[in-house]
Amino acid sequence: MTSTTSLFSPVEADLRLLTENLKKLVGARHPILFAAAEYLFGARGKRVRPAIVLLLSRATIPDRQLTPRHRRLAAITEMIHTASLVHDDVVDESEVRRGVPTVHSRFGNRVAVLAGDFLFAQSSWYLANLDNLEVVKLLSEVIMDLAEGEIQQGLNRFDSHLSIEAYLEKSYYKTASLIANSAKAAGILSEVTAEMAEDFYQYGRHIGLAFQIVDDILDFTGSTESLGKNAGSDLQSGNLTAPVLFALEEKPYLEVLIEREFAEADDLEKAMTLIKESNGISRSRELAAHHAEVAVKHLNCLEPSECSEALVKLADYVLSRLY
Ligand code: IPE
Ligand code: IPE
Ligand code: MG
Ligand code: MG
Repeated sequence: MTSTTSLFSPVEADLRLLTENLKKLVGARHPILFAAAEYLFGARGKRVRPAIVLLLSRATIPDRQLTPRHRRLAAITEMIHTASLVHDDVVDESEVRRGVPTVHSRFGNRVAVLAGDFLFAQSSWYLANLDNLEVVKLLSEVIMDLAEGEIQQGLNRFDSHLSIEAYLEKSYYKTASLIANSAKAAGILSEVTAEMAEDFYQYGRHIGLAFQIVDDILDFTGSTESLGKNAGSDLQSGNLTAPVLFALEEKPYLEVLIEREFAEADDLEKAMTLIKESNGISRSRELAAHHAEVAVKHLNCLEPSECSEALVKLADYVLSRLY
């Protein structure tokens, strides 16, 4: 598997600075948040979202010098993402994140809910201080989309008639919206043309969809240890993702198991076997590869540079996580 360290080398120093700044920004006000921030931003997050913002920023600023606003946008992006994970782990009752116990299992649900709220609120404050209304609108829509995605996922639990289209829409809200809109925002801060900003948005949208599909495959094929977060829990909790939706087309008995919410002994194991026997995983892989490919086409607007090259390679990296 390609490592993100070599992939992100053009912005490695920026990312290091970003991590330090995030700890300071979040931890400045309350000791308990300081502990949570140290904990969250010190752990092994991949920092994919701020890396995309930083790479697009460096690729579009004439003298390649990042402005403080570009840096702040990258930090806001990681803050929003991390807030969503803290809340997601409470909802999913997950015990491990970024290789360490989750905030709620370490500090309790009360602190986790407050810490997530605080991160969202603080990201809005820093966002407003960018003094760019267009960027404020893009990123505040993302916060709405994240909630929409979690709500859609919650409402559609164990619905074996969920369509792939509905799954992709939910994945846009949960994951791709943040990557797409922060990519576009980086372009706006660099004052690129409207067409180019739209290309950045589409790059982020398709990378985001590929990323979520891969994450959903890894929930079946990966281990808690290698992922640094709980594996194998989507199906059990009724979150029906691409591998299951494709498998349902081949294995009608899967529908019976899902509709009774795996109530009988061995139901879950039987469902797992049916999915693994089907083409669900390979078809999901193809779907992820398709989105990664479309993403890269939207980079044609960039002049060749080490940053644009890294953005192309990022699409391979997303898929390489499967091998
Ligand atoms: C996890 O995101 C949530 C998804 C959208 C799949 P990441 O896999 O980017 O999580 P970190 O930031 O590296 O922990
Ligand atoms: C992403 O989806 C979570 C958010 C974007 C809030 P998942 O539910 O698949 O994330 P993991 O698998 O817990 O990281
Ligand atoms: Mg989760
Ligand atoms: Mg997941």
